[in-house]
Amino acid sequence: MLSTRFTQHSLVTEAHKSIQPYLSEQSISIDATMGNGHDTLFLARRSLKVYAFDIQENAINATRTRLKKNSCSANVSLLLTGHETMSQHINSEEKADAILFNLGYLPHADTSIITQEKTTLTALDDALKLLSAKGILSIIAYPGHCGGQAELQAIIHWYQRLDSSHFAVSIIRSMHEKPDSPRLFTIQNSQ
Ligand SMILES: C[S@@+](CC[C@H](N)C(=O)[O-])C[C@H]1O[C@@H](n2cnc3c(N)ncnc32)[C@H](O)[C@@H]1O
Repeated sequence: MLSTRFTQHSLVTEAHKSIQPYLSEQSISIDATMGNGHDTLFLARRSLKVYAFDIQENAINATRTRLKKNSCSANVSLLLTGHETMSQHINSEEKADAILFNLGYLPHADTSIITQEKTTLTALDDALKLLSAKGILSIIAYPGHCGGQAELQAIIHWYQRLDSSHFAVSIIRSMHEKPDSPRLFTIQNSQ
């Protein structure tokens, strides 16, 4: 099943709104792109355990600081490694109720360090294997930077190949969308 809707809110807000009902005090969740830690903090406040990934040390440091400031560090593993290695770090029996990908580059840092189409697709495939039976995966893709449009197209091809009897895909777009505006995709497991 595929649905599309438009929003006047930020796509990060929409991603959090979509994910929140899937989380409980028993949940395992994954932030596949830690960045400055806003999403990690959102998950840490609502989960039993969070795994967060980033390839940049300054992302780890920013996230660690944010979690500490909010007294929220205890249940979070901050992993300085690409999300494409998530299957090596998370036991396949530990199913996640929510998995977030907020792609692109780290704001206020080196904008040439971006998520890459190939590793993003590897990570998405692995993420689906770790998703709980009623879990949700969300992806925010940014076509506005170099390589971002190709990554967005790769994600569209990726979700189009998913088994529609097992996964419901929603596309959430800004009401004020321009060609380069980000897109939010949510994939709900209904197996
Ligand atoms: C838009 S930012 C994420 C924002 C973040 N979720 C937040 O709440 O602040 C994208 C992040 O993806 C990271 N990244 C790039 N390639 C990655 C990879 N292969 N695995 C994990 N993170 C990656 C970048 O270093 C950057 O910090």
